[in-house]
Amino acid sequence: MNVGIDRLSFYAPSYFLDLHKLAAARGVDKDKYVLGLGQERMAVPPPDEDVVTMAASAALPIVEAGGAGDLDLLIFATETGVDQSKAAALFVHGLLELPSSCRAIEMKEACYGATAALQLACAWVAAHPERSALILGADIARYDLRSPGEPTQGAGAIAMRIAANPRILAIDPEHGVHAEDVMDFWRPNYREEALVDGQYSTRVYLASLVSAWERYRAASGRGLDAFRRQCFHLPFTRMAEKAQMRLHRAAGLPAPTPEDLQRILGDSLGYNRNTGNTYAASLYEGLVSLLDTCPEDLGGARVGLYSYGSGCMAEFFSGVVQPGYREALFAARHRAMFDARIELDYQQYEDIFHLALPKDGGEHAFAQYRTGSFRFAGLSQHKRIYEAL
Ligand code: HMG
Repeated sequence: MNVGIDRLSFYAPSYFLDLHKLAAARGVDKDKYVLGLGQERMAVPPPDEDVVTMAASAALPIVEAGGAGDLDLLIFATETGVDQSKAAALFVHGLLELPSSCRAIEMKEACYGATAALQLACAWVAAHPERSALILGADIARYDLRSPGEPTQGAGAIAMRIAANPRILAIDPEHGVHAEDVMDFWRPNYREEALVDGQYSTRVYLASLVSAWERYRAASGRGLDAFRRQCFHLPFTRMAEKAQMRLHRAAGLPAPTPEDLQRILGDSLGYNRNTGNTYAASLYEGLVSLLDTCPEDLGGARVGLYSYGSGCMAEFFSGVVQPGYREALFAARHRAMFDARIELDYQQYEDIFHLALPKDGGEHAFAQYRTGSFRFAGLSQHKRIYEAL
């Protein structure tokens, strides 16, 4: 029996900052951001949007398509949690009116969290093939203004229905993981912005890739030629190029040509280039981008997947795209969402960046911006108030 991703939906906020504008404001050559990092735009969530509303908006099309009837597990992976005790999954559970028989929990390990959730859900469904699980990954990537990480900020959410005999991607049972206690990127509880040793983090990402890949190769007996396409965790899209080059070196293969890189990676990069880093959602945003936009029918193709979360946890795994997968995608919806986005000017970006939640426990109604199907409407006595639109 195959188990894997049966539905796959992505949501990005309606607002974005063009990185040409950020480069101009910072006095940096725009090619550093556009060519050096491979980023065009960063998604900026408005003040009445958070990871809960983004994840609920990502999941809504799956629920509306009837994907919640047999649901008994909801895992929300995020490193932008909204409460130290209550799981963000329970807010989504309420907004989507999911059955009370469905377990709902939150999971964290930086950008790796959704992969841990996916693997646990696959094992869960393998043990209960008549049931399904919903995996959410949503984050707001935030660094200090004027720091090297600033142009890699972003926001977005992914929702995946995990089921037996999936329509989109059957997950292979083999995997290779790498765990190591390192301080490459972290965010203490008292900070809104992540701290990062940027150059070191890229070296750890690549070293962990080789370690995870070697274990995957030993477990599966597969070489790189087994994969028609490759998806990587994308802190910025140039990272995928570096990762693919490193994999070729580890596998003892000649360096890939620019044409090879474009064929193996190109379609997986488009969405992330326009949202920035979406942390827990990032790898799966790359997968959606690949499946939505690749002109070639990938039915039957094996895709390699590399998940990396700072701190660090890494996993190399793979899946086989299912024949007829296109009918299960939300490609038109994603296209319409990107087409309808609104551009911010630099000052609007900085104004939104500086907004902070009131902490006085009073009654606060937030101004309404353009959000998805849900909004973070206000605070009342320290309780978050959400609204379905
Ligand atoms: P930096 O140090 O300012 O940039 O920031 P740089 O000097 O390394 O330049 C970047 C690239 O632009 C280089 O290309 C330059 O040559 C090129 P490379 O040499 O690497 O091929 N460049 C230009 N190209 C064309 N025209 C120009 C030009 N100027 C320069 N004029 C850094 C880079 C990644 C450090 C920074 O963006 C950062 O700190 N980002 C945040 C951390 C990050 O994304 N780390 C990635 C790995 S860790 C990870 O993925 C986990 C994470 O997602 C968090 C989680 O798990 O939760 C972050």
